[in-house]
Amino acid sequence: MDDLSRSFGRKRVSPEDRTRLIRSVFQRVAPRYDLMNDLMSMGVHRYWKWFMVREARQSGARNVLDLAGGTGDIAWKLADPERAVQVCDPSLAMMEVGRRRGPSGRIGWVAGCGERLPFHDETFDLVTIAFGIRNVTHLEDTLSEIRRVLRPGGRLLCLEFSRPAPWLAPFYDAWSRLVIPRLGAWISRNPDAYHYLIDSIRAFPDQETLAGIFRAAGFSDVSYRNLSFGIACVHRGTRPIPNAA
Ligand SMILES: C[S@@+](CC[C@H](N)C(=O)[O-])C[C@H]1O[C@@H](n2cnc3c(N)ncnc32)[C@H](O)[C@@H]1O
Repeated sequence: MDDLSRSFGRKRVSPEDRTRLIRSVFQRVAPRYDLMNDLMSMGVHRYWKWFMVREARQSGARNVLDLAGGTGDIAWKLADPERAVQVCDPSLAMMEVGRRRGPSGRIGWVAGCGERLPFHDETFDLVTIAFGIRNVTHLEDTLSEIRRVLRPGGRLLCLEFSRPAPWLAPFYDAWSRLVIPRLGAWISRNPDAYHYLIDSIRAFPDQETLAGIFRAAGFSDVSYRNLSFGIACVHRGTRPIPNAA
């Protein structure tokens, strides 16, 4: 696996520069981010998110952290009178777009990054992170922070792009290389940001490798479920209960 903390797309950069460059990507794409998601995935990201949100609801969690929550797409689907959702994201521009969707007393918005979460130990029943884990600079630190803020027995659900089935790879590659950067240029006027998206997906660990990283970070009951033949994947893990048999 590449050292993700030093790669920004195909470029080798320092971890500090990577963090800065990623911040600037989301600052620039925020106003058109939701529209671009619909166009790039032809709406399929809605199904992927629905799938993760359904699992989140089934977990019975009442106090949820949606890390890298961006414009609050997950939070808006998940928050209800029984369930409070705290969005945490370093991009004020992304969260501002989400906040403008309207008032929701069950959603909180906090600036912060995964590597250093601004919450006390054992605060949440569930942490969700959708298309965010690929963007953190220090993956192990982020997983350790997620584990810290989960109560023992609490769950992590992570939705991320992954490695598609081999038969699908040529079509997926063509779509990624030819269509997405053009859409990025046309709709969001940020082709570079969408080159980063494609390159970062390629550099990111595949399903099995990411599951191994979750286990190494101390999560138990680690499993994953491919969506759309592995284009996306939901990874799951649990913060173990000490001394549980
Ligand atoms: C692709 S967006 C996903 C937004 C939202 N979860 C969704 O599914 O629509 C990735 C988000 O990760 C955030 N991000 C970037 N670096 C981060 C970090 N170190 N810790 C937490 N979030 C980060 C970005 O600001 C951005 O809002």
